[in-house]
Amino acid sequence: MVSFKNRLVWITGASSGIGRELALLLAEEGAHLILSSNDPKELSKVADECREFTSFCQEYPFDLSKPEEVNSTAETVVNTFGNIYLLINNGGISQRSLVKDTPVEIDRRIMEIDYFSYVILTKAVLPGMIEAGEGFIAATSSISGKFGFPLRSAYAAAKHAIQGFFETLRAEAKPHNISVTIAYPGRIQTNISLHAIDSKGNKHGVMDPGQQNGMPARECAKRYIRAIKKRKPEVYIGKSEILMVHIKRLFPRLFFRIVTKIKPT
Ligand SMILES: NC(=O)c1ccc[n+]([C@@H]2O[C@H](COP(=O)([O-])OP(=O)(O)OC[C@H]3O[C@@H](n4cnc5c(N)ncnc54)[C@H](OP(=O)(O)O)[C@@H]3O)[C@@H](O)[C@H]2O)c1
Repeated sequence: MVSFKNRLVWITGASSGIGRELALLLAEEGAHLILSSNDPKELSKVADECREFTSFCQEYPFDLSKPEEVNSTAETVVNTFGNIYLLINNGGISQRSLVKDTPVEIDRRIMEIDYFSYVILTKAVLPGMIEAGEGFIAATSSISGKFGFPLRSAYAAAKHAIQGFFETLRAEAKPHNISVTIAYPGRIQTNISLHAIDSKGNKHGVMDPGQQNGMPARECAKRYIRAIKKRKPEVYIGKSEILMVHIKRLFPRLFFRIVTKIKPT
């Protein structure tokens, strides 16, 4: 079984939710951690918790919506620490707005955070992994990466883009002994709906029932790490909502009838 003990792991979106739990679980395993998010204060709290378990935990806050910042942080991290053994692209925001109301600037902002930042960070760590002849790259998608549903147009687009990019990368990286895992969570108990943005870029600010009744973030993180270790190409994590993915694959006509009825909150 793969172990991340004493191996260098970089996690984005580590200040909250799934990323926080990934950080804690990997710290408990003795991984050496680089943690990122955009909120230095919240990130510091998680880093302090992790330091109770691991001897090495560095904080690198930066804004995933700003490509120059993503680029320069990636350069600094790679130049400072060398080869990353596991990169988990996890930071992200969700959306609560109709296509007809959403200006393209909001679509671009969501794509920058939820997709392009993943591309930039992955390209930054890839040469080191190829040189080392080993490595793991993970990307947090969503069941919205398998089907679109109301109020999630840009979010679903970004998550679908993750599949195209990382499936291609998986095929290209395999000869270099680099594993690529895409996680497709359903509804997980995190603050994602609070941080989701509306058509004006304002925070939705509501804990939606979908999140509140979802799978605990720790359970999600456990399954995510297990899938990475098993070098699984993809993993679906959640409760009964995951069924929709299979309904779309097996019974597309039924799926297109019922998708309009999914409660988007
Ligand atoms: N919860 C779910 O039901 C669910 C379902 C499917 C997929 N996901 C995916 O899981 C991932 C983690 O989300 P979560 O559920 O754990 O939500 P969360 O609790 O809101 O955490 C989101 C993380 O992303 C970071 N982030 C957001 N915008 C950022 C920015 N501009 N720059 C840097 N960091 C940023 C946040 O950090 P700061 O706030 O500190 O910047 C936070 O650490 C996301 O990719 C999300 O799409 C979640």
